[in-house]
Amino acid sequence: MVQTPTPENLTITPRDRRFGRGMKQDRWWMGGDPVATAFYNALSATFPRGEAFFVESVRAFRDGTPAKLEREIRAFVTQEVMHSREHVQFNKRALEAGYDLEPLEDRVEMRLAITRDRPPVVNLAATMCLEHFTAIIAHDLLRQGRHLDRADPESQALWRWHAVEEIEHKGVAYDTWSHATKNWTRWKRWLVKARVMLFCSRNFVVDRSLGTVELLRQDGITGVRAWSRMIWFAWIYPGMLRKILGAWFAFFLPGFHPWKHDDRALIAKAESAYADALIPAATPA
Ligand SMILES: [Fe+2]
Ligand SMILES: [Fe+2]
Repeated sequence: MVQTPTPENLTITPRDRRFGRGMKQDRWWMGGDPVATAFYNALSATFPRGEAFFVESVRAFRDGTPAKLEREIRAFVTQEVMHSREHVQFNKRALEAGYDLEPLEDRVEMRLAITRDRPPVVNLAATMCLEHFTAIIAHDLLRQGRHLDRADPESQALWRWHAVEEIEHKGVAYDTWSHATKNWTRWKRWLVKARVMLFCSRNFVVDRSLGTVELLRQDGITGVRAWSRMIWFAWIYPGMLRKILGAWFAFFLPGFHPWKHDDRALIAKAESAYADALIPAATPA
């Protein structure tokens, strides 16, 4: 059996929540800022198809896994299916606000078309890499409150909920991959992992940048203005992509595992913030 640093007492809890139903979302829901809005809308546009791919890739290797991992895979699938459901609704609201997400979805589809001819274990590797991406983005989202501070409350809650569950299940694709490749040499495993990570990272950054710029174009912001504002937002301030670079590099270190960094404290913190938001303020007698 493959040893894993995934905590023994980790619980992966699908939280069946719904956000923003019947709500009319502002076009620039992120504090009236077209660039921040475009950045998050571009991410959200990829989730429904992307997460369906993650689910298929991991599920293909579920049989024969140890009982604990099998349970974690089931919880992972449930969480991702609910994330897709909520992001479909979120994307609908972006559509109602006047955005056309089709060019972004077509690009995801184009990337996914390549995966259809690849061996399932390579797709599992791609999922493991992209799950690392989502986990380190989620970590930064929860750690730095200012990323979401300007969003409307429902959108804030949606993105925090998603981030919590991404952290919680961050080791599942990794452990599934480790189990699926347990007979490979360490060197072969590292080589495939590193190559797939470089490939996925390049595509992720290029595609999300193009997506953000396309949505800015729909707002009438084009050319150098669009590119410079997008690059400033993504890499300089608040600079999410710059902030996750260290955690991204860690993936290539020998002995890396997502749970070598236990960041469950962020989950507890985010959930207590939810609880505070749900409890009505005490009314004076
Ligand atoms: Fe997700
Ligand atoms: Fe995920």
